[in-house]
Amino acid sequence: MEITTKIQDVSENFGFNTPIEAPIVEKLPEELQVFVPEKETAYQFDFAITRAILAGFTHNKRVLIQGLHGTGKSSHIEQVAAQLGWPMVRINLDGHVSRIDLVGRDAILLKDGKQVTEFKEGMLPWAMQQGIALVLDEYDAGRPDVMFVLQRLLEAHGKLTLTEEKRIISPSATFRLFATANTIGLGDASGMYHGTNPINQGQMDRWNIVAQLDYLDEAHESAIIRARVPEFVSGAHKEALAPMIAMASLTRAGFKGGDISTVMSPRTVLAWAQNIEIFGDVEEAFRLSFLNRCDEAERPIIAEYYQRCFGTELKEASAANLAA
Ligand SMILES: Nc1ncnc2c1ncn2[C@@H]1O[C@H](COP(=O)(O)OP(=O)(O)O)[C@@H](O)[C@H]1O
Ligand SMILES: [Mg+2]
Repeated sequence: MEITTKIQDVSENFGFNTPIEAPIVEKLPEELQVFVPEKETAYQFDFAITRAILAGFTHNKRVLIQGLHGTGKSSHIEQVAAQLGWPMVRINLDGHVSRIDLVGRDAILLKDGKQVTEFKEGMLPWAMQQGIALVLDEYDAGRPDVMFVLQRLLEAHGKLTLTEEKRIISPSATFRLFATANTIGLGDASGMYHGTNPINQGQMDRWNIVAQLDYLDEAHESAIIRARVPEFVSGAHKEALAPMIAMASLTRAGFKGGDISTVMSPRTVLAWAQNIEIFGDVEEAFRLSFLNRCDEAERPIIAEYYQRCFGTELKEASAANLAA
């Protein structure tokens, strides 16, 4: 059974006022249902990025999303797939993903008591034939052998040649390809992204749509927290929300400026809010959700941001206290 889709107005799914059409999955083989991401409540869809991702699904275009760490690149693709009911798999290229993981390998099997070699398909041929959306996360951190395979795929009208097998894989009609990257493929001039590599310009060219995502604005970020943690709508800590969001903004500005190396993502802000609910203490929750994973040398800077937002001095404010 193939995946079938139907084009319809999906603006309501994303909370947009203007109509926008996209394919919604109608029929899905049962074994692929586990690959449809779960919908996140109160996810705030950025209009421009969502439209770019939807164009990828509608017109079968390759979409690359670039932006700083924690801006919501991966989750946007995932949440769009969730709304469309599209099965999706993410491959994080910054890990230890190798060419063999992607393409496949010969495996030795026992058949009727005899050893036989059989080709075991990797993620790429599998995803292409199943017709699911494949997300290449941290695309600019891919190893050279992996990038070489992807280059071949991107150049060959979307077909994949399994040289080992002398077989050409054509993608099924619902196969889609997305990527996310921290840099724009020109290498990392800022020094913020260790492990990223310049991407071959010929390869960059093969991405039909390149969209850029920045951090959420403060109003949208507050809306996420209020929707997920009711304590911040009417509870004892609702006054803390504005300075918390201001604090997150300061860390992002500091990160962009190269002053600190750890940044508060929207996920961290949410964890902070939830920890406030659990521990009943803004400062302690801040330590547990963010400060404790910051470089010790940078904690005085972060304490200074905290002082600016909340007017209270953290004990981490001076390096001397850290040593003690
Ligand atoms: N627009 C958004 N609405 C709701 N949550 C968001 C949004 N953007 C990011 N988040 C939250 O922040 C976390 C980090 O986002 P992620 O997509 O992993 O960032 P990136 O891929 O850009 O590093 C996600 O788990 C998600 O829950
Ligand atoms: Mg990501």
